[in-house]
Amino acid sequence: MNFRERYQEFFSQLDSEHFDEERFVPAVGSEDADYMLVGEAPGANEVEEGEPFVGRAGKKLDEILHKMDMEREELYITNLVKIRPPDNRDPKKNEISAWNPLLEKEIENVDPELIITLGNFASRELLDTKKGITSLHGRIFTREGQKIMPTFHPAAALYDRSKEPMLEEDLRNAFGREETGQQTLGDL
Ligand code: URA
Repeated sequence: MNFRERYQEFFSQLDSEHFDEERFVPAVGSEDADYMLVGEAPGANEVEEGEPFVGRAGKKLDEILHKMDMEREELYITNLVKIRPPDNRDPKKNEISAWNPLLEKEIENVDPELIITLGNFASRELLDTKKGITSLHGRIFTREGQKIMPTFHPAAALYDRSKEPMLEEDLRNAFGREETGQQTLGDL
């Protein structure tokens, strides 16, 4: 069953104004994954390849994951909005609201140990806050029994190099990985 079939009920109810086959990118990864990464919305590269986080931000994310012996395959990777916003603008409030029920369903199905929200948009939406990522990042919040850790969007680390070590540290803590790439004793 592909993503559209899996969530057929949602797609059949989604207002056509919020859907465009040509700009749609489904989530990727196993529903048994322990970690769920939530980005903002796909970009041009993602649309081309039909997969989230495969462009420049995705390469940065892969590079950081690689440093801690973590592979994309171990994660469920999704976006707040599954349609690429025109001209790479930020997703609008009504787009986020239209796609939110799908994200909630994904969370219910994957039921990950930890949700990692990447950047302001996903973090503010899932934590229902107006606070910025700089003050939220790296902390673990619980929402209806579900743990959520906000961190910087990998694209932000591309524009501002000072964010990269913080993103890396947050992810390392989230996955319980030591500098060596080994798992911490507590995880054994
Ligand atoms: N940025 C996102 O937020 N999501 C993607 O899938 C790619 C870039």
